[in-house]
Amino acid sequence: TTTDSVDRLTAQLDGLPPIDPYPNCYPDTNPQDIYRSHITSILHKITGIDTKIIYPALQWTLSLDKGDMVLPIPALRVKGKPADLAQQWLEKWPESPLVEKPSTNTAFLPFFFKPGPLAKILIPSARKNGREFGNNTANGLKDPSDPSKGKKRIVVEFSSPNIAKPFHAGHLRSTIIGGFLSNLYEAAGWDVVRINYLGDWGKQYGLLAQGFKKYGSEEALAQNPINHLYEVYVKISKEVADEKEEIAKLTQEGKTAEAQALKDSGVDEEARRYFKLMTDGDADALALWKRFRDLSITRYKETYARLNIRFDDYSGESQVSEDSMNQIMQKMLEKGIAEESEGALIVDFTKHVPGKPGKALEKPIVRKKDGTALYLTRDISELLHRHEKYQFDQCIYVIASQQDLHVKQFFKIVELLGYQDIASKAQHVNFGLVLGMSTRRGTAKFLDDILRDVGDHMHEVMRKNDDKYKQVENPEATADILGISSVMVQDMSGKRINNYHFNMETMTSFEGDTGPYLQYAHARLCSITRKAALSEEEIASADLSLLTEIHAINLIRVLAQWPDVVQNTLRTLEPTTILTYLFKMTHVLSSSYDHLRIVGSEPGLMKARMALYDAALIVLNNGMRLLGLSPLERM
Ligand code: ARG
Repeated sequence: TTTDSVDRLTAQLDGLPPIDPYPNCYPDTNPQDIYRSHITSILHKITGIDTKIIYPALQWTLSLDKGDMVLPIPALRVKGKPADLAQQWLEKWPESPLVEKPSTNTAFLPFFFKPGPLAKILIPSARKNGREFGNNTANGLKDPSDPSKGKKRIVVEFSSPNIAKPFHAGHLRSTIIGGFLSNLYEAAGWDVVRINYLGDWGKQYGLLAQGFKKYGSEEALAQNPINHLYEVYVKISKEVADEKEEIAKLTQEGKTAEAQALKDSGVDEEARRYFKLMTDGDADALALWKRFRDLSITRYKETYARLNIRFDDYSGESQVSEDSMNQIMQKMLEKGIAEESEGALIVDFTKHVPGKPGKALEKPIVRKKDGTALYLTRDISELLHRHEKYQFDQCIYVIASQQDLHVKQFFKIVELLGYQDIASKAQHVNFGLVLGMSTRRGTAKFLDDILRDVGDHMHEVMRKNDDKYKQVENPEATADILGISSVMVQDMSGKRINNYHFNMETMTSFEGDTGPYLQYAHARLCSITRKAALSEEEIASADLSLLTEIHAINLIRVLAQWPDVVQNTLRTLEPTTILTYLFKMTHVLSSSYDHLRIVGSEPGLMKARMALYDAALIVLNNGMRLLGLSPLERM
């Protein structure tokens, strides 16, 4: 229970009063909660204000000079001028073993933690929780007070490329952000289902089959299915474009019969017929398409693995049942959500969502004149199906902001159909564009090409420092991981919604807030650990009261924020919340090395500092893995 764990932790601290348990107080996993609880109890005694109001009002600070925790006094909802209230309360403030007596003349009451006890709380907690430090699995419980009721389930749909089409920047960002969000929810104790919703259905796959018969090579397909299918697709698409031009020319010249003949027997028509065979379930037509799909997935899996990503399900547009779509369209008609318009079926949102919002949602088509369903229709059906299949508590779509309208439309239609509950569990996590993403071979088309190119570039950067380069055991593999880290960190540095420029030079630099910088910080901590060569027992027995230097104290204070940072990220769903913190922490860390040497220090100090660096390594390693990076131990 909470009380037990508080007792266990605080037993290490002499003369500390017992700490009261509160809802959402997890002292075992989050050292900050010990302070929250302690400050809440003091304030409650002084003010009589309900602890339920005080506890959640205590916030983290943006920088250490503002304290370790802060209370915005207005959040307590009591009458009076905040600064005056503070003065009255502070007169009654008791001596605390954990926090300094606060002072203020603003509406904020800042708390500074006493350094001695903080070291003794933070370092053992980080080391005990290890790879789990920062995670709070209670978060994902259906009922936090009763773990036997099980976990909440979240479906995260991300990446979702189109077969035989380029893997563009939008897919890259969706992959990176989606992978991160999946890790985040998993760390928070949710049952996470990762779904890749492939673009794998439509007339273009009939066209691709035609193209393969003409231009395809089994050998090339086996070797690199993704690139080969794209090449084939480009060639056959060119034929269709030429054919269209020819038809237009013939029509213009009045040769209508010839134009019609070309329309009836051309590549485009053949593709349409082939796709018709596919939708009718023709075994041969489907077998070829399935081979393209399976081979592409196999290849994608290899690339995803390099990014530490795996999917539980490769769904896709092809997997949406025609039957269920027909039923939904029928229901839309019956409920008056959809209406006929020039032979097609449309949703006029102005009729269903009054005022400006309705207008903004426009009038999308849900069924074409020829009876075929659209991208929009598939998404409606797929969401309902997903809910039935996974019974999720939440479903996240990681899709570019270019598709904001599309997502709003299908969420709204699901709601109008009467599934308010499902619609309310669906959430769009969007993001901006990547500008200028190109490789040396031209505009970037495939994930593999991008990663290889950045890896090559990284290799060159490494070669510039010859002495260091010679010490790297496996330079290619290291360059590869550094390259991937460069791309990922650049992508996650800003807020998701912002566009950014794909800049090979800046992202691969070891200076500035980059992936290589983080990797370097990690490798350096690993190297310090190896050189110190202390046993686990030696580190565990360290006298932490020796950590008195300002650099040590500030590092401990920053490290103590980590579990709160993860909690906050569950609110922002922004990878930059994690990254900003990791850079802040590594800056404090790197400025401390000169002041907190290990080699040459006397044994007691050596052990204490090693315990501190170990806590820093745990936080950095956990943060990097949460982002999806592969932390390097040497470089
Ligand atoms: N395949 C789509 C594209 O490349 C993205 C799919 C996004 N997911 C969805 N459920 N619509 O644009």
